[in-house]
Amino acid sequence: MCGIVGMINGHPVAGDLVSGIQRLEYRGYDSAGVATVEEGRISRRRAVGPVSALRELIEVVPLSGHAGIAHTRWATHGSPSEANAHPHVVGEVAVVHNGIIENHDELREELLRLGREFASETDTEVVAHLLDMALAEGLDPMTALDVVSRRLRGSYAIGMITSRDEDALYATCHNGPLVVAEHPGAAFLASDGAAIAPYVSEICVLECGDRVELRRGSLRIVDSSNQTVDRPRRQVESREDEHSTEGYGSFMLKEIHQQPAVLERQLAAFADPLTHELRLPQVATIAKQDQLVLSACGTSFYACQLAKYWFESLAGLPCRVELASELRYRSPVLGAGHGAIFVSQSGETADTLAALRMVRERGVPSLVVVNVETSAMAREATDVIGTLAGPEHGVASTKAFTAQLFTLLAAAIAVGEARGHSTRQQTADLVRTTLGSIPQAVELVLASSARIHAYAATLADAPRAIYVGRGPSFPLAMEGALKLKEIAYVHAEGFAAGELKHGPLALVEEGTPLIAVCPHDSLFDKTLSNVQEAAARGAQPFVLTDADGLGRALKLGDALALPTLPRLAQPFVHAVALQLIAHHAAAAGGKNVDRPRNLAKSVTVE
Ligand code: F6R
Repeated sequence: MCGIVGMINGHPVAGDLVSGIQRLEYRGYDSAGVATVEEGRISRRRAVGPVSALRELIEVVPLSGHAGIAHTRWATHGSPSEANAHPHVVGEVAVVHNGIIENHDELREELLRLGREFASETDTEVVAHLLDMALAEGLDPMTALDVVSRRLRGSYAIGMITSRDEDALYATCHNGPLVVAEHPGAAFLASDGAAIAPYVSEICVLECGDRVELRRGSLRIVDSSNQTVDRPRRQVESREDEHSTEGYGSFMLKEIHQQPAVLERQLAAFADPLTHELRLPQVATIAKQDQLVLSACGTSFYACQLAKYWFESLAGLPCRVELASELRYRSPVLGAGHGAIFVSQSGETADTLAALRMVRERGVPSLVVVNVETSAMAREATDVIGTLAGPEHGVASTKAFTAQLFTLLAAAIAVGEARGHSTRQQTADLVRTTLGSIPQAVELVLASSARIHAYAATLADAPRAIYVGRGPSFPLAMEGALKLKEIAYVHAEGFAAGELKHGPLALVEEGTPLIAVCPHDSLFDKTLSNVQEAAARGAQPFVLTDADGLGRALKLGDALALPTLPRLAQPFVHAVALQLIAHHAAAAGGKNVDRPRNLAKSVTVE
């Protein structure tokens, strides 16, 4: 959460810095700020609201420095206000920060006792004071960063400029993402390579405890034991179309529509197009275990819940699914014979990363299913499968979710074969008939979304909505409800259909919307009777089914036939229909679907 960018160049950098944080706006959009060093002074501009407000400000009151830092904020300590916006300037130092300083209270007390005065409520300002004091004691900036970092607890990435030196930027990170890059005459830092991709073709991903001095055309990286180090370089590609909604009106809608292409890309990467063999050697270690734990947060957690059905039925592997935010604080029974799968779009989610580390300390092999392949999770896991969804800018996970599902389904099939639970021929059949059917089916849902559009508009002002499903449709019901809460601000809950009469039915009153995920499979009759019970008490059902279920579903209320697919492929079309329902309900209610209130995309704090 929060995005930071730093640049040093042969010309004024404020405009480029603001463009950089605009590319990171998915990380936070409460307020933004930029500071540069000009003639031995730090000058700063800050604005509450989206980065565009900061851009307007610097157009009116420009900055002329050639070295600077910028920040887009997701408030953790203190409200979104100009005073709390970064950069924080104290004496000779300006600082931007992504993450959390856990011991900021005690540091603030100590600094207050020393007579220091604070201008904000943020945890970041203590860092600016400590750095200013260290510089005043005569330490050089790199040593000051080292000394101060040793006093900080938490996870963070910090960028700094000083008024002493117009030709340098400094940065450090501790469990927070930070990349750096240089080219002749310039150098760059950012919390995500996308921010600086228009200027460089390669980036270095810093490791925990690294510090870096950036000068025009040079980087000096030192590790936590003060050794100068080189970090491996990775390619970055600047795709300006990734930063535009390309006529869809929102990133979320564009990303929903990118799903068929993402799924095609995954199919081509994971399976041989002629023999239909799966090419997923990364599952070999997991396949040898006796039990699996799958763990993640939010939407990625629901992907794990669905995958549990697949690993059990296709690979005969006992599975449990854990919220990473809970798993990390328990003493779970994990050890020999266990394997762990972590699922994340960003690869940065603080709780999932902490759970991965806990599992690793116990010697349990881990497989990470992740979209951002430069992320900390990708670096730290035993094995990694990239989900190939491409950058996702909308805060709500859409293409990342179906890409996770596709990866997990392919992995479950591959694990089944590796364990001798299924034959090579069965794998090939599943690849051809199931995985192969998904991209086109999703395309069909997108092409016929007018019905969903009309229904979704009725949800925009609903006080609440209930989602139900059974079996693999139960996690989808929870995911559908999360999407609606998240972007349409309608209170929604997803229930196992069989649980309705154990309590939730009391919520039903005349007109309560009830969205049922109800493919025409062996569970259809059971789910439909639960829908009927709710309808008899006033609920207004909208049943997502297929051609075979449509007739009976329509007798209970509204219904929609999605493409008929092999059983294992059904969740994909339902997932997309649920995304469209949430999107269109939010759009009908005039909500900003890409930037829902109070949320940010990468949850790097607990
Ligand atoms: C909801 C959503 C979140 C994320 C969750 C985990 O639409 O996007 O619930 O799924 O914050 O994030 P990742 O997958 O990056 O670990």
